[in-house]
Amino acid sequence: MPPRPSFSPLSHPSARRLPRLALILTCLLALALVLVLPTLVVAEDADIGELYQFNCTSCHGAEVYTRTDRKVTSPDALERQVRRCETALSLKWFDDDIVAMANYLDTHYYKFKP
Ligand code: HEC
Repeated sequence: MPPRPSFSPLSHPSARRLPRLALILTCLLALALVLVLPTLVVAEDADIGELYQFNCTSCHGAEVYTRTDRKVTSPDALERQVRRCETALSLKWFDDDIVAMANYLDTHYYKFKP
């Protein structure tokens, strides 16, 4: 009887291709994340921008955020002031919305955070 051929699963071509396929899939996934994440962030900024345009421009324009004697001088105070105006308008936003709006105003006008 001839000796049984020794068969190692790792020497099978499909077994050797598998890690490469996994690597390619991982790269594609990473690429997809890199491409999609910024659009999510931009979309959120655009949503807040709309919320802002709709609710926050009837009493004062953006000039109150950039004037030299503006009242708000820290990120905490900015969040408190957003909350004050939001409460005055009875908008019933969630805390997340308040924070997002404070961040929006910070990014576009106050520029406390680098
Ligand atoms: C009902 C009128 C009204 C609306 C609408 C309004 N605010 Fe105000 N807001 C005020 C008044 C009054 C002040 C104080 C202005 C001043 O001190 O001259 C103020 C001031 C602010 C300041 C501080 C400006 C500074 O001096 O640094 C921020 C920030 C602010 N508002 C955010 C918002 C946001 C966000 C919205 C939308 C949710 C909003 N406001 C909507 C009345 C309003």
